[in-house]
Amino acid sequence: MSIRVAGPQDWAFIHALVAQHFTGLVAESALCHWLCHESHRVFVAELGGRPVGFIHVQPRPAAGELWLNLIAVHAEARRGGVAARLLAHCEALAVGQGLTRLALQCHVGNPQGLAFYARAGFLRGEQHHDPEIGQDFVRHVREVPPGTAAAAFGAAPSIWAGRLRRLRYNLTIGRTSSLGELRSAAPIAR
Ligand SMILES: CC(C)(COP(=O)(O)OP(=O)(O)OC[C@H]1O[C@@H](n2cnc3c(N)ncnc32)[C@H](O)[C@@H]1OP(=O)(O)O)[C@@H](O)C(=O)NCCC(=O)NCCS
Repeated sequence: MSIRVAGPQDWAFIHALVAQHFTGLVAESALCHWLCHESHRVFVAELGGRPVGFIHVQPRPAAGELWLNLIAVHAEARRGGVAARLLAHCEALAVGQGLTRLALQCHVGNPQGLAFYARAGFLRGEQHHDPEIGQDFVRHVREVPPGTAAAAFGAAPSIWAGRLRRLRYNLTIGRTSSLGELRSAAPIAR
């Protein structure tokens, strides 16, 4: 299994996983923003030349943590260690950014996710209501193990490269998207 940065060839795969597992939790405009303007923070796990899972992360230097925003593995590839491998990559990225913790919020009604994070050694925090999404989540945190080797993010896309990608995304994936917008979703800064 290898981990690489996601490209436009992965958009349909990622979009399908997000539509399947995060409809009502992720707005179309947000996913478009992440894939086009934060493309260096989206990673795909590949097995036998095919994508089997992905993760999107965001550094939060003020909190000292790497935020795990979205992770999903194709149903046929589950329980094979794909998500665990993506998590290990995140640890290395965190170290590369001088961050000491991984953090995320998992929907209260997601037993698979809750079981995965418990097994991965995350501390389960308080349940809270996310006013932006209008649903309940549980915050999870885990320290990066000492001695973890560092990995660096690639270069962020320029503003123009991001805009070109967005155009391409809107003409292809966005046109047939079933994700829609969250009613209370805050506007995404561009
Ligand atoms: C949660 C998810 C990412 C896990 O991916 P995965 O590649 O199957 O996970 P791994 O194979 O790395 O699992 C590692 C360990 O986590 C635990 N685990 C993972 N999925 C589990 C499940 N459905 N039930 C119970 N334990 C589970 C197990 O202990 C597993 O080790 P084992 O298979 O040796 O018992 C995957 O089920 C998924 O994509 N779900 C839909 C999207 C989602 O819920 N994402 C999380 C949002 S917060």
